[in-house]
Amino acid sequence: MSSSNRKLIAVVGATGQQGGGVVRALKVTGQFKVRALSRNPGKHRQVADEVVEADLDRPQTLKAAFAGAHGVFLVTNFWEPGTDELKQATAAVHAAKDAGVKHLIWSTLPNVEAISGGKLHVPHFTGKAKVDQIVRQAGFENHTFVIAPFYYQSLMGALAPQKQADGSWGWTLPLDPTVRGIHMGDISELGSIVAGAFAHADQAGNGEYLPLVGDFMSFNEIIDTLGRQGHGFSFRHVPKEAFAASFPGAAELAEMFSYFEAHSYLGSNSIDRIAFANKIAGRQPTKLSAWASVNFKVKAAAL
Ligand SMILES: NC(=O)c1ccc[n+]([C@@H]2O[C@H](COP(=O)([O-])OP(=O)(O)OC[C@H]3O[C@@H](n4cnc5c(N)ncnc54)[C@H](OP(=O)(O)O)[C@@H]3O)[C@@H](O)[C@H]2O)c1
Repeated sequence: MSSSNRKLIAVVGATGQQGGGVVRALKVTGQFKVRALSRNPGKHRQVADEVVEADLDRPQTLKAAFAGAHGVFLVTNFWEPGTDELKQATAAVHAAKDAGVKHLIWSTLPNVEAISGGKLHVPHFTGKAKVDQIVRQAGFENHTFVIAPFYYQSLMGALAPQKQADGSWGWTLPLDPTVRGIHMGDISELGSIVAGAFAHADQAGNGEYLPLVGDFMSFNEIIDTLGRQGHGFSFRHVPKEAFAASFPGAAELAEMFSYFEAHSYLGSNSIDRIAFANKIAGRQPTKLSAWASVNFKVKAAAL
């Protein structure tokens, strides 16, 4: 199909982990024209067919960003200082609808507040879940929810093993390492699910929830998997209160680990949703062992 005949997909967060994977997956299929959105388009000219400015904090930029687009992939970045995910996502959903977008795919997370009966507060999960209703009510011809997992990449990033007081390298976390509760995956593979959903809107564009899950593990199973590849990591289970006070942002993570322990990352039995997401993606997601054997470099870097 010639470039001018292809429907256009605009990708928010195209320079990041989630959106970057979406851009790459859409390019592989070749079915759509891809518009990467960034606050700094000049720095990322080669990323996609088009690179256009979009700042979710400046809704006036979104009209041009979404103009002519058939589909929009939307993700917000809770961790960017000053971000109000509800405000940003609401502005983007309304701008997409006004621009005539037919299919919006929102990267959501489970509603921890609802799942835990109000006991646990994890704003970077629940804040995204609260956007779901806004997406539903906007009245797009098609809409889809994708659910990003606990990134394998986090094990080399924000949650990389640290040097412990006893000299070992490993993790000190407020989590029972024997409880299997972590739905994990290679975040670059979320793009295959998103590209599949855009391509098969008849099957996956009616409010379906599509989680990316490559593995479902306890922390001990993560450590055992890495151990079989020669990484000897330790684990110390600490009380939630002690961990929550240990660095800025730790209280939110402590609540998140309590949630994983009590309800699991996805919060419910999601076998059918995971299978359907894989069907739409047209592939099985990579297991932690396979991903780590190629990508996990922390031990060498840390020692
Ligand atoms: N780490 C995990 O295990 C995990 C698990 C599930 C969900 N998440 C969620 O993933 C989200 C982050 O996604 P990511 O990992 O893809 O982030 P990332 O790699 O850090 O990239 C952030 C992206 O957001 C864009 N962005 C930030 N502020 C923006 C704004 N005001 N307007 C337009 N674009 C903006 C950036 O684009 P420019 O800089 O080019 O403008 C960049 O492309 C977070 O909300 C987090 O809660 C993380």
